[in-house]
Amino acid sequence: MCGIVAYIGHRQAYPILLKGLYRLEYRGYDSAGVALLNGELSVYKKAGKVSDLESHARELDTAGSVGMGHTRWATHGEPNDRNAHPHYSETKNFAIIHNGIIENYSSIKQELEKRGHTFTSDTDTEVLVQLIEDINDNGNVGFDESVRLALGEVVGAYAIVILSKKDPTKLIAARNGSPIVLGIGKDEYFVASDATPIVEYTKNVIYLNDNEMAIVSDGKLTVKTIANETKIPYIEELEINLEAIEKGGFEHFMLKEIYEQPRSIADSMRGRIDAKGGRLRLGGLGEYENKFLSAKRVIIVACGTSWHAGLVGEYLMEDLARLPVEVEYASEFRYRNPVISEEDVVIAISQSGETADTLAAVELAKSKGATIFGICNVVGSSIPRATHAGSYTHAGPEIGVASTKAFTAQVTVLTMLALQIAHRRGMIAMTRFSSLLSELESMPAKVEEVLKTNEQTRELAAMFHEAPNFLYLGRGYGFPVALEAALKLKEISYIHVEGYPAAEMKHGPIALIDEQMPVVVIATKSASYEKVVSNIQEVKARKGIIIAIVTRGDSTVRKLADHVIEIPECDDTLLPLLAVIPLQLLAYHIAVMRGCNVDQPRNLAKSVTVE
Ligand code: G6P
Repeated sequence: MCGIVAYIGHRQAYPILLKGLYRLEYRGYDSAGVALLNGELSVYKKAGKVSDLESHARELDTAGSVGMGHTRWATHGEPNDRNAHPHYSETKNFAIIHNGIIENYSSIKQELEKRGHTFTSDTDTEVLVQLIEDINDNGNVGFDESVRLALGEVVGAYAIVILSKKDPTKLIAARNGSPIVLGIGKDEYFVASDATPIVEYTKNVIYLNDNEMAIVSDGKLTVKTIANETKIPYIEELEINLEAIEKGGFEHFMLKEIYEQPRSIADSMRGRIDAKGGRLRLGGLGEYENKFLSAKRVIIVACGTSWHAGLVGEYLMEDLARLPVEVEYASEFRYRNPVISEEDVVIAISQSGETADTLAAVELAKSKGATIFGICNVVGSSIPRATHAGSYTHAGPEIGVASTKAFTAQVTVLTMLALQIAHRRGMIAMTRFSSLLSELESMPAKVEEVLKTNEQTRELAAMFHEAPNFLYLGRGYGFPVALEAALKLKEISYIHVEGYPAAEMKHGPIALIDEQMPVVVIATKSASYEKVVSNIQEVKARKGIIIAIVTRGDSTVRKLADHVIEIPECDDTLLPLLAVIPLQLLAYHIAVMRGCNVDQPRNLAKSVTVE
């Protein structure tokens, strides 16, 4: 949701900014721009992708060792050149880049207009830079102080970087609700929305907290709060490496990330499971494990794919640990006056750890006294820092906008959590506990096997990539998989796809079925196998085309279905980890054959830091 990057030091800034923008492009790709300080404060910006900016700037003077760049996911104002960041102040003495939303921009704008200021864009961001300039009043109030006072007036979320022509050796960054990482090099500083533009240059980083601003001036860094309190920043070492954020020979990040799943699932379990010894320990639970043991219920909050993982979590936690669970869309939960008590445990699931609605749901639940447990992927992000306890998924950086390895890692952590709580609550027999641990440990190898369906999914994609609609059906643990697989196909191929509980089909979607309709059914051997077989019959009776995910060796569904994809046998509880893989591949190949931009689907962004 908008990516920001900035540099101040002894190197040329532009190449660093450009490379950083390419790495951050997953956050938004409606427009891109840079500002460079080199005597002048020059702004170059273009609607479209970072590559459009690169072509535009080819003939321009991009010299300068101080600069900042932005890649936009439009909120206020359509994605055109005019609304692209950076935004100048009226005199062009200041320029700003911003990720977030200034909620009270309209009232500030009216005030500034009354005072004679004019605006050139439709954005909330321009209002902030004009306000800074207004407060600066030709230098009567210093640069830092103008920024600080302006930020005291705004309501909303922001991560910003501001440059001033009159202070060419200074860079100011600030955050409230949107992420900022500062990279500390030797006589140089980097600023970015996440660590990916920084890791190549330094591993020493500072995560700015809400309501803090960082001022780099003449090579010196100061961090203070908007309330003017000086802070001693905590320098952390980055865990990611450059390899993890490059495509490594794959055509797309999404495909690379699908193929990384044997490893990412193993990484999620590393040091946590010892199947031989019958031991499982999610260290992140710590003293908060008792809260799960005494909890009256668990509420899971998340958005998008993470919500689908949450649904798997509900099935697991109720099935294994016999704890009542509710799964909530974070955006609904936060605004519907939910009943939350101190006896509730809230699990927040988020790949990025930055999703605005999930973060707000966490804050709400915390204010009502609930215990909050986070399951996040990005280390040091906002949600893990706001929770009482949590477990990282350790899936490594996920760049493709469509989430794949983050989903299976979330499901892996949820499986371990459900098993640990089930064990501690005495709800699971030791034999079942041990056998599930062993089977969970064998998942990376089984996922490796399922990846061999790649060629088959490509053939299916060749047959069906022109279909205008798809229906995905599943029951039990197959239902969240149907939802997630449907979302994968819809978001990257722009085909209309519905995911549905197989039995609910007859209450509506069955009306859509005719000989043109591909219906993907998760029909593996499970408690609801016979029922799913009946649902397949219902589709066949209406001439629908069945593509079924079945357990290896299945003959019943094979006779009924038009196409089958076999996956290895597994316990019901572990089905989502295997069944989703061929459907990720199917979505990928269909999108590629339709000529879609798989890694950067239209209108979407990887990290949604606005509500
Ligand atoms: C966006 C992404 C999805 C993701 C969702 C929640 O919509 O495109 O892939 O599932 O946000 O993100 P989170 O980072 O909280 O898991």
